[in-house]
Amino acid sequence: MQAEQVQSKLPAVGTTIFTIMSALANEYKAINLSQGFPDFEVSEELISLVHEYMKKGFNQYAPMAGHPALREQIALKTDKIYHRKYNPDTEITITSGGTQAIYTAIAAIVKPGDEVIVIEPAYDSYVPAILLNGGIPVLYSLYGPDFKIDWTEFAKLISHKTKLIIINTPHNPAGTIFTEEDLNSLSMLLKDTGILIISDEVYEHIIFDGLSHQSVIRFPELLNRSFVVFSFGKTYHATGWKMGYCLAPEYLMKEFRKVHQFLVFSSNTPLQHALAEYMKNANYLELPSFYQNKRDFFLEMLHGSGFSFTPSKGSYFQLLDYSGISNEKDTEFAIKLTRESGVASIPLSPFYKTPPDQHYLRFCFAKKSETLASAAEKLRTL
Ligand SMILES: Cc1ncc(COP(=O)(O)O)c(C=O)c1O
Repeated sequence: MQAEQVQSKLPAVGTTIFTIMSALANEYKAINLSQGFPDFEVSEELISLVHEYMKKGFNQYAPMAGHPALREQIALKTDKIYHRKYNPDTEITITSGGTQAIYTAIAAIVKPGDEVIVIEPAYDSYVPAILLNGGIPVLYSLYGPDFKIDWTEFAKLISHKTKLIIINTPHNPAGTIFTEEDLNSLSMLLKDTGILIISDEVYEHIIFDGLSHQSVIRFPELLNRSFVVFSFGKTYHATGWKMGYCLAPEYLMKEFRKVHQFLVFSSNTPLQHALAEYMKNANYLELPSFYQNKRDFFLEMLHGSGFSFTPSKGSYFQLLDYSGISNEKDTEFAIKLTRESGVASIPLSPFYKTPPDQHYLRFCFAKKSETLASAAEKLRTL
């Protein structure tokens, strides 16, 4: 069989910008603030727990929905912070990362011809997952500097074919968050409709300036129609572990699990045991101040540079506007910055289907102070 005989299901998808920028960062030995992962270590305690469970022999398949003790811990945590008791037996499933949970939810409910509203700039897995399942992405575009939704305009995208809306707060790549008013507007819009939601909340604990994360779980009109997606990778600085979970009311979780069992069946066993133990200490409470310090440090170090910015409100990303330095296209400017200044970032345009004329680069500040300081020093010279 020749390659040309295979009709691609994703003809428009090539190498992602993350792979391209990381490869360039390696080639030019640039400081890599492009891809979203920490350059500091996972807690020693958590690593020891994983080791311990492996040595104790917890190395075979976990139950399909996940290790019961981990689902129990998630139920307790969700009740404590969002005041909704999800049933660990029927409403919580452990997944191999947030991305798998998102794909699984889409595959479970989107049928050919269904419309799915996606807010762009968007995390890059949403649209391909919709297309692979025969859905039609309907895009609502946000623009800088505030990246706010106009809900009256948004409402115009809803049709009788709308099956699903995907939302993401705190937002990658914009670093914005949904307010209570945003979720009230969405609740009003969806009242008396059968439209479902995937709420991507992988950065739930990475939120700043005393703001509180507005989970759909807090909104009764949204909660009963939502798959809510979380990531242990983000919360415990272990993106390479690819561990996450999904919460949904039983009628949705039933369908989710039908796909989950044939996609992965179950996720990594010793990690699930370790996380169940580790979660008992509520060790996510320090995350907002931990990351706020990093954001503030990075922005202070950029003081006096040619970049302008609105401080990120959540996620571990900061957009910098370079229009005071250059009016080149963002992809070109990002490549130049990597080659000539030794700092790799991600241009914003690949997060859009039809990129607007904006001049933003995304920088990940989940890095050690020395990494951020060296990067900022280089950026200040522009
Ligand atoms: C908005 C968003 N959703 C989901 C994910 C995926 O999380 P995971 O690594 O657990 O698959 C990411 C990771 O970058 C993300 O930024």
